[in-house]
Amino acid sequence: MGRPGPLTAEQRHLPQVRLRPAQEEDSARLLALRNDPDAVGFSVSGRAVTVEEHERWFRRVRDDPAHHRLWIAEQGGEPVGQVRVDITGGTGTVSIAVEAGHRGRGVGTSMLQAVVAQVGVEGAPSRLTSVVRSDNAASLRAFAAAGFRQVATGAEFLELEWP
Ligand SMILES: CC(C)(COP(=O)(O)OP(=O)(O)OC[C@H]1O[C@@H](n2cnc3c(N)ncnc32)[C@H](O)[C@@H]1OP(=O)(O)O)[C@@H](O)C(=O)NCCC(=O)NCCS
Repeated sequence: MGRPGPLTAEQRHLPQVRLRPAQEEDSARLLALRNDPDAVGFSVSGRAVTVEEHERWFRRVRDDPAHHRLWIAEQGGEPVGQVRVDITGGTGTVSIAVEAGHRGRGVGTSMLQAVVAQVGVEGAPSRLTSVVRSDNAASLRAFAAAGFRQVATGAEFLELEWP
């Protein structure tokens, strides 16, 4: 018998996460997640946001649920990250962040699988996409494990798509 290969995400035991819609009282947590140093470094803008920018953005998201879905992920009742889908036409752009203390344990993969399952059940948007920095190995692997594939390659960023 040969040596066993590395476990795929399907074979790996992933933590159970529950997605709940973000509420007004999640604002400070969402700002902290957005301005986490890794999240800033891997973001498209590459910069932190101000409290005012964040509050304006969060109000816009809450006021327009047809175009913005934003969830807090919980594990055992504890918030462990956020994931959102910004919808234009039939396409949803996915953004994700896991709390620093919970990274590298399968939470991000589980969150993305939950979003894909949710979108599958709702039947919309029909297409998901994400833009990920080419050096963000954890993000690229998490999206791949949730069924995303690479459709465009730039030097700095890759575009991923589901299905
Ligand atoms: C990117 C992020 C969401 C991934 O979530 P996570 O819970 O840390 O990731 P997981 O534990 O589910 O791991 C996903 C895969 O990456 C691998 N991985 C985890 N941490 C890693 C690291 N630091 N370097 C390389 N690979 C890593 C895991 O082994 C796993 O791969 P596998 O499925 O082949 O075994 C999370 O790390 C994060 O919030 N980072 C900061 C913000 C950010 O980068 N957001 C995404 C912007 S596109």
